[in-house]
Amino acid sequence: MNIISRRNFLQATALTGAGLALGPSLFGKEEVVDKNWKSPHTNLVSPDKKVRLAVIGCGGQGGVDANIMAGGVQFAAFADVDYDRASAWFLREPNVPRYRDYRKMLEEQKDNIDAVLIATPDHTHFPAAVMAMNLGKHVYVEKPATHTIGEARYLKALAKKTGLVTQMGNHGHAYDGCRELKEWIESGVIGDVTEVHIWTNRPVWPQGLPNPDPEKKFEVPSTLDWNLWLGVSKYYNYNPDYVPFDWRGMWDWGTGAIGDMACHMFDPIFTAIDLRGDVKVSSESEGATEFSCPKWAKVKYEIGASKTRPKPVVFNWYEGQCRPHLKDLPDGLFKEEKDIPRTGMLYVGTKGAIIDTDDYGTRMRLLPAEKWEVFRKNRPPKKYARVPDRNARMEFIRACQGGPTPGSNFVEHSMDLTEWGLLGVLSLRLGNKTIDWDYKKGVCRGLPEANKFIHKEYRVF
Ligand SMILES: NC(=O)c1ccc[n+]([C@@H]2O[C@H](COP(=O)([O-])OP(=O)(O)OC[C@H]3O[C@@H](n4cnc5c(N)ncnc54)[C@H](O)[C@@H]3O)[C@@H](O)[C@H]2O)c1
Repeated sequence: MNIISRRNFLQATALTGAGLALGPSLFGKEEVVDKNWKSPHTNLVSPDKKVRLAVIGCGGQGGVDANIMAGGVQFAAFADVDYDRASAWFLREPNVPRYRDYRKMLEEQKDNIDAVLIATPDHTHFPAAVMAMNLGKHVYVEKPATHTIGEARYLKALAKKTGLVTQMGNHGHAYDGCRELKEWIESGVIGDVTEVHIWTNRPVWPQGLPNPDPEKKFEVPSTLDWNLWLGVSKYYNYNPDYVPFDWRGMWDWGTGAIGDMACHMFDPIFTAIDLRGDVKVSSESEGATEFSCPKWAKVKYEIGASKTRPKPVVFNWYEGQCRPHLKDLPDGLFKEEKDIPRTGMLYVGTKGAIIDTDDYGTRMRLLPAEKWEVFRKNRPPKKYARVPDRNARMEFIRACQGGPTPGSNFVEHSMDLTEWGLLGVLSLRLGNKTIDWDYKKGVCRGLPEANKFIHKEYRVF
């Protein structure tokens, strides 16, 4: 399938490279949201009508998202390559047309669809989103919205060009934590951020698998269309170790632990301070193969000072058995190793530090404890509008009806955030090479071999 012509691709990425406007403040002031808001988006649905929603991949996380949207939408069609996984939705909505192939669904049902929820494995997000957007449909795309940096830049430009409503599924972006962290940092309580440490116990799925033996064959379940599941990916024989869920640890379909979690765990700090720009990314890891992501990894991003950020920032990611130890962290934050939480986001500034122990940014406190005791009783005023019910899925549906632009929209936020996570993936895929990222051009300086991972090949299926 020719998803996009080469010329369109180059045009779109050139647009991004030339520096698209990064948009106004992420959330807007409360009064703008409430009273003077006029949607800039195209193809809006009248607020007195339900949004006609198609779901691609309703058997996994897509079912969770669809359930949260259900009150505000009329389901228009479902596509799932595995009718067994999708069966709960087919039973619940027996009159909604069902498909295995999302391309056929979009083609046949396009006049009955306003918006599309895409919650397939990562490698299918992009081709499905491009097709839906080219048909004028608003899109909610699970995280990470894209599988490569080239795709993220393309979708950002396409969203800008079409004016459609977009939202990535990093639903924590609609929680108050993202806004609070920005307010706390802007209040000056920790000074200028200079160091970030983010760590997780993931992968909790297999990584570091050997390259598959092409002679080894398993019977494909009768309910699954394996060719459609693979979609644009290189062909592999079916193996029950890949689906569902565990595809995350294979490069052709997922993005490993960092790609899976960056859109959640990097989001609060990426929202609070501007991390866009040239950056050096290096990594250590063990066990990666051509087929599968590493068993554990550590990735370091080093970004210089900018107009909006007076100090350089060193940003560290740790996954699997790798985690920060006392020796890696500034003195005085934790007394003993055992005080360092199992998972966390630590933001260190010139005057203090904030720790968050929730992947979605809702459990923040200042370190050390004495400072927190004072601050918690005298927090900075709310500066950024909150999302009603902290509900990212309904934020998207309301935006399709003329409501405020979703916070994790492709143009201003989520594609840049996705790219930041995928830069770490790129260093790992290159065998822990250090990347000197040219933000404007979207290339690694002096590393032409990186291009095949920035822009991948697509199989015709
Ligand atoms: N926001 C979150 O917190 C969150 C949580 C879990 C998963 N996710 C994301 O949701 C996406 C799906 O993850 P999952 O864990 O549900 O995976 P999964 O493998 O459990 O389920 C994917 C579903 O999509 C279907 N599918 C696969 N390929 C398809 C295709 N080409 N067309 C139509 N349907 C297809 C599968 O049959 C299955 O029903 C991923 O991008 C993942 O990162 C997000």
